[in-house]
Amino acid sequence: MPVETAAQAPSTAVDAPAPGATVAVFGLGFVGLPLSLSFAMEGSTVYGVDVLPGLVEELRQGRSLHQESYQGRGIEEILREQSELGRFVPTLDGAWAVSQADTVIITVGIPVPGGKPDFGPLTAALETVGGALRRGQVVILRATVVPGTTEERARPILEARSGLVAGVDFDLAYCPERIAEGRAFEEFRTMPTVVAGVTRQSAERARQAIARVTRAPIEVADHVLAAELSKVAENVQRDVNIAIVQELARVCEGAGVDVREVIALANTHKRVRLLDPGPGVGGYCVPYALHYLRPLAARVGVSLPTLEAARETNRRVPDRVVEVALAHVRRLGLSPAQARFGIWGLAMKDYTNDDRFSPAMEIARKLAASGGEVRAFDPAVHPDHPYPAQTALEAAEGAHVLLVLARQEGMDFADEAPLAALAPGALVLDTRGAYRGLRERLAALGLTYWSI
Ligand SMILES: NC(=O)c1ccc[n+]([C@@H]2O[C@H](COP(=O)([O-])OP(=O)(O)OC[C@H]3O[C@@H](n4cnc5c(N)ncnc54)[C@H](O)[C@@H]3O)[C@@H](O)[C@H]2O)c1
Repeated sequence: MPVETAAQAPSTAVDAPAPGATVAVFGLGFVGLPLSLSFAMEGSTVYGVDVLPGLVEELRQGRSLHQESYQGRGIEEILREQSELGRFVPTLDGAWAVSQADTVIITVGIPVPGGKPDFGPLTAALETVGGALRRGQVVILRATVVPGTTEERARPILEARSGLVAGVDFDLAYCPERIAEGRAFEEFRTMPTVVAGVTRQSAERARQAIARVTRAPIEVADHVLAAELSKVAENVQRDVNIAIVQELARVCEGAGVDVREVIALANTHKRVRLLDPGPGVGGYCVPYALHYLRPLAARVGVSLPTLEAARETNRRVPDRVVEVALAHVRRLGLSPAQARFGIWGLAMKDYTNDDRFSPAMEIARKLAASGGEVRAFDPAVHPDHPYPAQTALEAAEGAHVLLVLARQEGMDFADEAPLAALAPGALVLDTRGAYRGLRERLAALGLTYWSI
């Protein structure tokens, strides 16, 4: 499908001021909060909307648990500064926020409980926006969606609620989000992005708004559906690529070869880019991708055997980790109920506080369900989980298996004190390659090492 660059896109007619001076952002989560603050830092006035009173109150008090920073300043410092300047206003009142803004950005996602997309939260946000929409405003859906959502759900809801027509009375566009948590501020600026509108003008107006923050190329796609599909394609590609290295890891384990050495060697090829294996795939994006693609594939009568197989491979990895941990406990002559499991890292990947659908959480739950005692240390993840340990040492103390499931700032793998505190003959089950260079030290301490 031809895609023209932003530079070639038709410019908006007339002298309408570029949108994005006043922005209402719906959803103040991992994407919405740093995006709001990025607009605010560029001088926009941003009304941040969420449905969680506790979150809005926390933000009003200048608090955020997100692990984001920009140019050496943490997100809380940026939040307080922009709030004091009056450029970031968190609110529960979506209709009021829309009434203040020239541009509305919706970063509310589509969860997939039990494998079926739940449009409830997004629909609620669209209804609020539609109910307050004015002529001339720009609405941008900036979330990962089931392809077809912008035209088939967003447009009818917004039009019915407002009595206005998309592409005529107001502009409607889709812009996939590509940031990685922990690098959000940087990547809003530097990551090339894609935008598509229900009309050329909608695409262009949305591009102008996004360009207030994004300095990288903004590709203007011809079709909204192509832009929506491109985001799902990015995510299924990661799912498949991760499944490849998980399978490779099993082969290497059987053959007594270090999979990370194999990957490093293969990646010296200029056109090869194997990813790192780990304890599974979590978070809100990659595991959902197949579920987002299925409805459209079914509609056009296409099956997805490769993608289904990759998803299943990745879904089973946490079970494999649990199996290895329990097998070691049995080798020590213990029942699972007599065992202690220490976990470092509960986040869904390294260096984030995001524990949604985290494979590490799943592993912790399954080990606890086996009857064993589980203590988990993760300085980034909110401590309201059932296994809190305050320090790495506390998690490790007396553990028969120490599982490294996610790396975080402040975890010191060279520190021998927690290792010396493990139970005699304990297993260090390393899913992140954190102890790769320290295997001899582990052996000298009488510890067994297993790595994915
Ligand atoms: N987290 C990432 O790194 C990332 C990266 C790329 C794309 N995405 C996509 O971006 C979207 C948002 O992801 P996220 O991680 O920020 O999700 P999130 O769950 O952290 O944030 C969503 C927020 O929306 C709020 N919300 C729900 N219903 C609402 C409503 N009716 N009105 C206003 N707010 C409402 C929720 O309370 C929540 O705070 C998803 O589609 C996701 O797949 C996320």
